[in-house]
Amino acid sequence: MSVAMPPAVPLADLWGWTAHPLRLLSAGAAAGPVFPLRLWRRVLVGYRPDWNRAVLGDLDTFRSVGSLSGLTPYLAAGIVHTDAPEHHPRRRQLNRHFSTRALAALSDRLAELAVRYRPAETFEASRWSATLVRRMLNAALFGSALPDALLARFLAPLDRRLPAPLLPRPRIFSRLDAAIATVLAAPPPGCVAAQLVGAPDAVEQLRTALAAGYDTTAHTLAWAAWHLAGETDDRYRTEPDPLIDEVLRLYPAGWIGSRVAARDTGCAGVPVPAGTMVLYSPYLTHRDPSLWPDPTAFRPDRFADGRPSWSYLPFAAGPRTCLGAHLARLMLRRALDPLRAPAFRQGTGDPAPRAGLTLRPGGRLLVEVDHARLRPARRSVSAGGR
Ligand code: HEM
Repeated sequence: MSVAMPPAVPLADLWGWTAHPLRLLSAGAAAGPVFPLRLWRRVLVGYRPDWNRAVLGDLDTFRSVGSLSGLTPYLAAGIVHTDAPEHHPRRRQLNRHFSTRALAALSDRLAELAVRYRPAETFEASRWSATLVRRMLNAALFGSALPDALLARFLAPLDRRLPAPLLPRPRIFSRLDAAIATVLAAPPPGCVAAQLVGAPDAVEQLRTALAAGYDTTAHTLAWAAWHLAGETDDRYRTEPDPLIDEVLRLYPAGWIGSRVAARDTGCAGVPVPAGTMVLYSPYLTHRDPSLWPDPTAFRPDRFADGRPSWSYLPFAAGPRTCLGAHLARLMLRRALDPLRAPAFRQGTGDPAPRAGLTLRPGGRLLVEVDHARLRPARRSVSAGGR
């Protein structure tokens, strides 16, 4: 079945995309489940489960090369920039090193870092999370062997507004690549780099994983720490997984994803000519009231009844689902462990999201520390790596 192309949304233009992309997307979504935008090229956006399934499930038709990720040197490389048929075998090899089982050994090391960087004073959650996630990624990927100052310089543009993350930075990229090659020559045991020794694309894959995993996890952690500090239901201080799930729903760091159609096709009943750029949007999907009742409310208990399929996409879905999803969840859990104490209280904050390369908190998120209730930091050891 195919239906005529939906009408253009008058608001849809490059200026709106640059200045207020979330507003532009929401206006488009109000017009229908699939809508066109006129950016520097014409694109089609959809957000319902049938669209998500079609776009994310078929790697032969919907390609990554030529999509939005190609606009930034941080993501135009490695597995992100690999299409079918090469994608499948390379992903299978990489998946082994990012599985829950492979990562379990890292849990205690991440817990140590979380305790060491547990704030003792009122703190701004985004600043704290950026430093902690950088150190956690260094530990997980490189056994903490990469110089932290170099890592900070490489990742800094990802913390700045567009177009900073889009600009080419050949000098810092080649310095980072050289440092990764040095780690690969004698990697600390247990880290992901140690598993990739000998792979011809190891440097590029590790650099891409680092970039893809940094601001996504750091922003998610900032929101999670702030909401945890404001949680009145003790269940979520004991077991924060539903709170993490709700943060990932309401503020999906990967708010937009894109592909290019390799052939004439159809998606959710809409014709998609070859060469069309198609967008899927976890942000819109997660805020669709027909899928998520009262979608803008923060309610960790909403997952008790399960979740509709192809409607919860914080890590995308299908064969290109996030390579680092297990690692991200592990870092989030370990980072939040020391903050589960009642000594941490929500301060003022503006959690409304702002869209750049990834979604980030629009304002400062303060977490206060009640010294009277703060116990000395103890090294917390995980239960079975969860
Ligand atoms: C909360 C944290 C994270 C979020 C929300 C997130 C989200 C996503 C999403 C939505 C995609 C799909 C992008 C697309 O369709 O174009 C993706 C892909 C990817 N992510 Fe993550 N990510 C996170 C953490 C990480 C971490 C820690 C790593 C490090 C290993 C990582 C590495 C990757 C890679 C390499 C891909 C590309 C996979 C492929 O194309 O086969 N991510 N991520």
